[in-house]
Amino acid sequence: MKRNVKLSPSVLSADFTKLGEEIKKVEPLSDYIHLDVMDGHFVPNITYGLIIGEAIKRVTKVPVDTHLMIENPEMFVDDFCEISEIVSVHYESTRHLNRLINRIKDHDRKAFVAINPHTIVELIKDVIMDIDGVLVMSVNPGFGGQKFIPNTINKIRTLDEMRKELGLTFEIEVDGGINEETFKSVIKAGVDIIVTGNYAFSAEDPIDVLRRIKEFNPD
Ligand code: DX5
Ligand code: ZN
Repeated sequence: MKRNVKLSPSVLSADFTKLGEEIKKVEPLSDYIHLDVMDGHFVPNITYGLIIGEAIKRVTKVPVDTHLMIENPEMFVDDFCEISEIVSVHYESTRHLNRLINRIKDHDRKAFVAINPHTIVELIKDVIMDIDGVLVMSVNPGFGGQKFIPNTINKIRTLDEMRKELGLTFEIEVDGGINEETFKSVIKAGVDIIVTGNYAFSAEDPIDVLRRIKEFNPD
């Protein structure tokens, strides 16, 4: 049976001199627009914040999927809930994960927990029944265009087994290094949402890339 994988192109790899046009290019096959918020502390890079998210909202109806790679996410999470359908907070960025998840859910937004490549899936077991999704980092967060870390496949499989065993419906999202070589294996492992930065935006025809992923049949 064909699984309907969702796509979340990351504007990190878009041309910012024409962000509106770049979004229009991917819009027809995008389930979300992925917003990578980096603060130069949690990750060694600084990107953008709320005003870019608000600008995206003005050019498209595609919901925003915000990935907070920041320290003290508690300070900003309410603001990002205003512009997002999904808000991902890193397990490694807070002492009070359960509280943060509840804050996102209080806004009626989907609460996802992101885990770095070195963070084992078992560490989020005690919140897994409370969340809407897990964002599995398949590169070290901070930059677009990095190489996919192969162990990610095992983590996706473990999460997929975990949700079946526990009878849960949380989604599994993968982020980083998705390209021609890697997209099939993450779909086969059980992923639901795929982030594509460089692969989509550096292509001559981003829609063609997105269509290839959407149409892949793992069986
Ligand atoms: C990396 C970001 C990713 C990034 C993915 O820290 O979280 O969302 O934009 O980019 P690609 O697909 O180019 O690896
Ligand atoms: Zn991301």
